[in-house]
Amino acid sequence: MWPPSRRHLCLAFLLACLLSAISFLHVHQDLFRKGLDLSILCPDRCRLSSRVAVFCLPGTPLTANASRSCPRRPPSPSPSGTWTIYSDGRFGNQMGQYATLLALAQLNGRRAFIPPAMHATLAPVFRITLPVLAPEADSHTPWRKVRLHDWMSEEYAQLKDPFLKLSGFPCSWTFFHHLREQIRSEFTLHDHLREEAQVFLSQLRLGRARGRPGTFVGVHVRRGDYLEVMPHHWRGVVGDRTYLQQAMDWFRAQHRDPIFVVTSNGMGWCRENIDTSRGDVIFAGNGQEASPGKDFALLMQCNHTVMTIGTFGFWAAYLAGGDTVYLANFTLPDSNFLKIFKPEAAFLPEWVGIAADLSPLRSKAGP
Ligand SMILES: *[C@@H]1O[C@H](CO)[C@@H](O)[C@H](O)[C@H]1NC(C)=O
Ligand SMILES: *[C@@H]1O[C@H](CO)[C@@H](O)[C@H](O)[C@H]1NC(C)=O
Ligand SMILES: *[C@@H]1O[C@H](CO)[C@@H](O)[C@H](O)[C@H]1NC(C)=O
Repeated sequence: MWPPSRRHLCLAFLLACLLSAISFLHVHQDLFRKGLDLSILCPDRCRLSSRVAVFCLPGTPLTANASRSCPRRPPSPSPSGTWTIYSDGRFGNQMGQYATLLALAQLNGRRAFIPPAMHATLAPVFRITLPVLAPEADSHTPWRKVRLHDWMSEEYAQLKDPFLKLSGFPCSWTFFHHLREQIRSEFTLHDHLREEAQVFLSQLRLGRARGRPGTFVGVHVRRGDYLEVMPHHWRGVVGDRTYLQQAMDWFRAQHRDPIFVVTSNGMGWCRENIDTSRGDVIFAGNGQEASPGKDFALLMQCNHTVMTIGTFGFWAAYLAGGDTVYLANFTLPDSNFLKIFKPEAAFLPEWVGIAADLSPLRSKAGP
């Protein structure tokens, strides 16, 4: 046997180097790929933020503030897992879904992600901070699905699933009132909307209250599809002219020189039915169906609220945070609506209810 020459040793060494380099690259590549796959299920912050940026853009005003408001870590101590919720219904419904997801995920130590459609609805109006769920994460995640009823219950505090997709139309303070400061901060208006509403209100103040601070009462009159849905589907009524008169008289008795700022998705009806003889009513609706943000900003900047029915009015009242008058008992006692809606979980205890006039239903249903 000939002994290995220096040249052979050198070649063997180079070969070994090459092989280990190749195998290192191979292993590294594998890890990299696994990392990517995992990031779809449990996205870490860096990987996610590049995905999320894509979904922040549509509908988000391109200001420094708005883009900063998109992806941020939720504040609870190192939450894990991925929870989301179906975005269903309109503006107020989606606000309810957002707040409920945030509260329940926090309660259960999970990270909350919102669907892109919810981001597109809410982010143009509010500085929301929950990150957006990437569609590929959505389709790859083994979700357990839970349909929520509209009040908090104990089982919701013990949902241990790492991957949970909620659904339903939750809009009850019982889910999130303990986090009201955080909810308020999530639903902070973008500056341009707040300022526009403030300019509008300060012009009213100059015009009417002659230098006095001015007390604004936002009046939300829900019309539209509810005119059909309430009587025919739920055996209920919407706020009528008598209710609005009573609610406004309540404020006239409680506050000095209130100014009523009326918004509705049926402004024509409001103009015909709301008593303007005292000169303290302003019709301010901007077309709620197309762009709800302006009306919402106005109601939210008012000091107090008159609600009729619906989640849009609930949120305006909750965020305005003043005195609130609501339409109470607006369905017949045997309505199926009461199976999905608990008044005591919907209206804050300090809010003032005025009972609805159900006689139109009774005369229709009667013999
Ligand atoms: C961002 O927010 C800060 C503080 O809220 C404000 O002073 C600033 O004008 C905002 N910038 C933009 C571009 O809206
Ligand atoms: C009432 O609302 C107006 C407009 O948002 C605001 O300027 C004023 O400070 C509020 N008044 C009180 C007492 O909060
Ligand atoms: C609504 O109905 C309930 C049950 O009948 C009653 O206790 C409550 O006082 C009513 N609310 C109003 C504002 O009339």
